[in-house]
Amino acid sequence: MIPVTALKRKIKIAPSILGGDQGNLASAVKIADEGKADQIHLDVIDGHFAPNITFGPGTVKALRKITDLKFDTHLMISEPENYVDKFLDAGSDLLTFHVEVLNGARFDALYSKIHAKGKVIGLSLKPATEMPAWAEARLDKLDTLMVMTVNPGFSGQAMMMSVMPKLEKITLMLNDKGLPVDIEIDGGVEPETIGEVVLRGGNVLVAGAGIYYKPDPVKAVGVLREKAKKAIATGAP
Ligand code: DX5
Ligand code: ZN
Repeated sequence: MIPVTALKRKIKIAPSILGGDQGNLASAVKIADEGKADQIHLDVIDGHFAPNITFGPGTVKALRKITDLKFDTHLMISEPENYVDKFLDAGSDLLTFHVEVLNGARFDALYSKIHAKGKVIGLSLKPATEMPAWAEARLDKLDTLMVMTVNPGFSGQAMMMSVMPKLEKITLMLNDKGLPVDIEIDGGVEPETIGEVVLRGGNVLVAGAGIYYKPDPVKAVGVLREKAKKAIATGAP
């Protein structure tokens, strides 16, 4: 665990509409709005990078019309360069790429393109992936560093506690460098697990099942936020 005094990043709750009604994604967005979420997490999966297929820029553009919340777009796709312009035009605010499909030169080109449009970039690590040297050298360019706590593909999986040592290492590294980068946790965030990750530095908490599988999903957003704040206040997960 990280000393609570070192945990200064703002807690943000990011409902993942992959956990919502796939036939009514607009209702999933409305739930996030009504629950006063901080951002909406949009999981784009291409059937190559991960074993599922979700939605693309057309859906993002349609959802953009019904909310002002930040669109946190998690690109689980093998060839992200082919789609970046489309997601930017559709209204994505943050585009997060997997380190497993990039390198330093490709990141630099994406960074320039995204910042030229006034948007921000993130990087994500699958549970078994360690931070590559090219990514470590570019941490100051990131809005968000995502640590996945399930293997990408599906909502409703259990958080992998084996990722915790890596999360602590990443938090300490960002704190040492004095970088205010958001640390996003994606996978298995529930009222029972959120304390474990916020006490290790996670501050953007993605939740699919932890919100949309609950009897009152609007209330569930606030429940997660309160659990996270309580863990920080008490130092107990
Ligand atoms: C998995 C996605 C996650 C997923 C999280 O590939 O990246 O965002 O929706 O769902 P839960 O919170 O249910 O684990
Ligand atoms: Zn995700």
